[in-house]
Amino acid sequence: MAVEGSAPGKVILFGEHSVVYRGPAIVLAIDRRARVVAEERSDDRIYIDALNLGFSGYFVGDAYHPEQGEAWRGKRLAALNVAARRTMERLGVESGLNLKVRSRIPIAVGLGSSAAISVATVAAIGALLGGNLSKDEICALAYEGEKVIHGTPSGADNNISTYGGILRYERGVGFERFEVERIPPFVIGNSRRKRSTKMMVGNVRALRERNPVTVDGIIDAMGRLSQEGLAALLGSDLPLLGDLMNINHGLLAALGVSSPELDLMVHASRRAGALGAKLTGAGGGGCIIALAETPRLKQVESAIRRARGTPLRVNVSYEGVKTRSVG
Ligand code: MEV
Repeated sequence: MAVEGSAPGKVILFGEHSVVYRGPAIVLAIDRRARVVAEERSDDRIYIDALNLGFSGYFVGDAYHPEQGEAWRGKRLAALNVAARRTMERLGVESGLNLKVRSRIPIAVGLGSSAAISVATVAAIGALLGGNLSKDEICALAYEGEKVIHGTPSGADNNISTYGGILRYERGVGFERFEVERIPPFVIGNSRRKRSTKMMVGNVRALRERNPVTVDGIIDAMGRLSQEGLAALLGSDLPLLGDLMNINHGLLAALGVSSPELDLMVHASRRAGALGAKLTGAGGGGCIIALAETPRLKQVESAIRRARGTPLRVNVSYEGVKTRSVG
C-alpha cells in the first residue's frame, strides 16, 4: 500500500519579511504542486528519493547517509526526516518509510517548495499509517520540518501549502482564507539564483538592530500595503494592486533584499506593460511576480526572458493539501 500526498507552492503578494515581525502577509497558493509518495519499509530507515531535485539518501535516526547528490543536501532532507518522525510520534507508530518526492516547484527560489514537500509528506504518512490528521495538525507537523531549514519561519508557507487559495496570514494570529473569481494569471520571473531564506531574514534582522526606528517604519508600511493590497485583490482593482506591488518592491529594496537580477526583471516587466512587479519571497535571488492584463502577459514573459530570467505563468490554486491511495 502506498499513499501520495500533494500540496501547492506559493507566492507572497505582500508582506514578506514584515510578517516575520508583525502585520499580515497576503499569500497565494499556485497551480504547481509537490507530490510525495509514502510506503512502509520493513527496516527502520527513512529513505528519501528526491531524484528529480537531484538527491537521494536515507536516515537512521538523525544520521544522514547520502546516496546521490551533495551531502549538504542532507539539510533539506533532514526537514522531511523530522516531519516524518514527528508525524509517527503523533500517531504513536514506529516504522521505516520510503518517501518518493516529485515536485514541480523550483527549489530555493521563494516559491514555497520546502513547505509544500513537508506538508505533502506529513499528509501522505498520516493517511498511510491510518491516522486521521486534521489540516491544522498537518500544518503544525510540517512546521516542525520547516524549522529545520529556515530557523523560526513565520509559518506563512506551511499554512498556504495546507489550505490553498488566498490567505491573509499573521504570525500569532492565524489566517483568513479568501477566494476571488477574477484574477488574471500572474507571471513569475525566476532568476534561478538560489538563496537561503534564513540568511536573508538574518540580514534584515541585523539591519533592524542597527536602524530600529527606520526599519520598523518600513515594516509597518508593509503591513498597511498588505491590508490595502488584499482589499484591491478582493475588489479586482488591478491598477491599484499593481501600484501597491510596485511600492512594496521599493520597500523590500530599502531593506536590502533585492538584487540587480531581480530589479532588472521588475523594471523589464513594467516596461512591457505589467501593472505591477515586485520580488516575492525572501529575495536576494529567487523570483519576482508581475501582474498584467491578459493581453499583455506574453510581452511580460518575453521581457523577463530578455532580462535573463525564466518566466512561469501561474494561477491561484484553491486546492490545498490532499492525499490519494496509489496502490
Ligand atoms: C519566505 O517565504 C518569506 C519570509 O517572510 C520568511 C518567513 O515568512 O518566514 C521572508
